[in-house]
Amino acid sequence: MKSRSPYCRFALIFWLASGAGVAAETNPANSALPAPPAPAAPPSVQSPSAVLGITVDADDGHLGYTVSRFAEPVIAHSRLGLVFADAPSLSEDLSLIDSSARSVDETWTQVWGEKEKVRNHYNELRVNLGRAGGGERVLSVVFRVYDDGIGFRYEVPADPAHPQRVIANELTEFAMTGDHSAWWTGAYLPNRYEYLYRHTPLSAIWKAETPLTLRTDSGLYLSLHEAALVDYASMTLENVGGNRLKADLIPWSDGSKVKTSGAFVTPWRSMEIVDRAAALIEAADLTLNLNEPNKQGDVSWIEPGKYVGIWWEMHIRKSSWASGPTHGATTANTKKYIDFAAKYGFKGVLVEGWNVGWDGDWIANSELFNFTLPYPDYDFAALAAYAKGKGVRLIGHHETSGGIANYEQQLDAAMATMADHGVHVIKTGYVKQNGLIPRIDESGKLVHEWQHGQFMVRHYQHVLEVAANYQIAINTHEPIKDTGLRRSYPNWMSREGARGQEYNAWSEGNGTAHTSTLPFTRLLSGPMDYTPGIFDLGSKEALRKRNIASTLAQQLALYVVIYSPLQMAADLPENYEAKPAAFQFIRDVPADWSQTCALAGEIGEYVVIARRDRHSRDWYLGASNNQHGRLLNTPLGFLESGVRYRAQIYRDGENAHWKTNPEAIVIETRDVISSDVLPLRLAPGGGVAIRFVPLVRKRGL
Ligand code: NOJ
Repeated sequence: MKSRSPYCRFALIFWLASGAGVAAETNPANSALPAPPAPAAPPSVQSPSAVLGITVDADDGHLGYTVSRFAEPVIAHSRLGLVFADAPSLSEDLSLIDSSARSVDETWTQVWGEKEKVRNHYNELRVNLGRAGGGERVLSVVFRVYDDGIGFRYEVPADPAHPQRVIANELTEFAMTGDHSAWWTGAYLPNRYEYLYRHTPLSAIWKAETPLTLRTDSGLYLSLHEAALVDYASMTLENVGGNRLKADLIPWSDGSKVKTSGAFVTPWRSMEIVDRAAALIEAADLTLNLNEPNKQGDVSWIEPGKYVGIWWEMHIRKSSWASGPTHGATTANTKKYIDFAAKYGFKGVLVEGWNVGWDGDWIANSELFNFTLPYPDYDFAALAAYAKGKGVRLIGHHETSGGIANYEQQLDAAMATMADHGVHVIKTGYVKQNGLIPRIDESGKLVHEWQHGQFMVRHYQHVLEVAANYQIAINTHEPIKDTGLRRSYPNWMSREGARGQEYNAWSEGNGTAHTSTLPFTRLLSGPMDYTPGIFDLGSKEALRKRNIASTLAQQLALYVVIYSPLQMAADLPENYEAKPAAFQFIRDVPADWSQTCALAGEIGEYVVIARRDRHSRDWYLGASNNQHGRLLNTPLGFLESGVRYRAQIYRDGENAHWKTNPEAIVIETRDVISSDVLPLRLAPGGGVAIRFVPLVRKRGL
């Protein structure tokens, strides 16, 4: 029998008390809701436990909606609609034909993830619209209302008179009820999504990327995002004044926003709406639930796991991607990493700089990358055989530097080369200044595209689908943001899409607040290949050059705090072997979970997350802290009751401090039960990592 943690049982009791669904574990309890309101009343629907409600109106021919929580407004009246450049728009002159409602309560299983079972419980309202003068349906808007969030999307039937339509503007608005506190990064900036988060009033936003996180004066937390971004432009949010945010679609180089053909659906526009910061993390299932189920059939070849690789040494300039005397991806060096991986139980070895194209200005010379030709000092075939013999796999690397035509031309051969060498995961890369992706347009002219417009959205999707044909999973760096597509395409395992650890190698660093901001912002969209686990934090040279604002205990905690099914142990092998006791945590921690409980946190201050291993009864806890030391009393109610656990604790030493003494760590054990409250002492820039191993088996398990 599967046991449920008491912590998560609390949520279940609340749900049952609310009179909601029955037998959610096993079946879709889908049913028709009571008839929608009489035509005179505006169409509306409430969430299953009557927490959130949405009302739609088209009174003056313009479509709009409002959102409330416990009857208090959360989103004031906001416009909806689409404007076409070359066809009658869906923005005015609309009239309501009819609406219908239904209720869905189902539980589905993730191939891999933060949790095994995901509950999808919502009430849906479908609103069909025609032209004011009558006639056929020209637009439907579908709203799905959950207790902790809302998604809606446009469904546009074909218009025989206009088989191709260009969207010139999406009118979707999110009218906020005040000048909320916002955590955001700007859109259209050169380094794509790789910026430290700003924390400002909403009014200071010009154009923000999503997920955008907001806190209201009354203590609500909102995350605005999108789900299922397929063949469409990515949505950013423009501040149009008066606390209103409006969808701003990243355009093509010719100014079009989206090129459509026939009938189409837009991505879902989504809002998490909760009353605790940590609840944002648990409500992030919304993005997955708004995506379609697995389209890839048998995906048993996809394996979450941890990896090491020839990577950090390039970022700290110990070796180079380019060929020559400092070349990192040599046969001998790769063997060293394979040996290390095999010795310590890592499944993968990433090798960057293995293929021809890195010499000279590789960011400018994207057309020189050859994805089938290794450098002469990299014996790919011999290394594949060596890795196989040691029970590990090479992880491939395709840095395109934004040379899309060059990559797509070689794509099949590139994937086949990797597959032939036993590779099951490829890290892709698109290092190019945002807005400078070259494309030869239909008239043969060189144009430059944004990294997150429809052209690139199509490209990322194409790579994913070709890779799947070769049973290869993708870990995209410089990606399009995550919109939950891993549910439909489980081979899209991880991505970067924010400032990762690499910035600690060569920039001013990520600062102390970054890893306690990410869980409430970027990570709400999906897994991140942050590449944690830097152990060499303490040398004077490291501090001066890399300025990593983290203690050693925090680096360990990040394996729990920052979810990725592909989790790197990023530091050099010798740095791990110098600290074997701390390294033990990285060896133990899994990369696939059956449950996740976000225990506590405030955005940019601290976060505490507990996760249960998918393949054992062990629980893990990770806490990451900003620059202010903190004592947190953490109830262990997530553990199974009646079971005694041995907690293996990796905590900051008494005098640990990210700036002056980052490597001071205490490793100790303590026996605990679920009713215990564990004091967690977090140093400035610190953290704690804990493994809980059950000692006594519960009867009947
Ligand atoms: C940027 C990626 O984020 C990093 O991980 C990689 O090493 C370099 N590009 C080179 O591809």
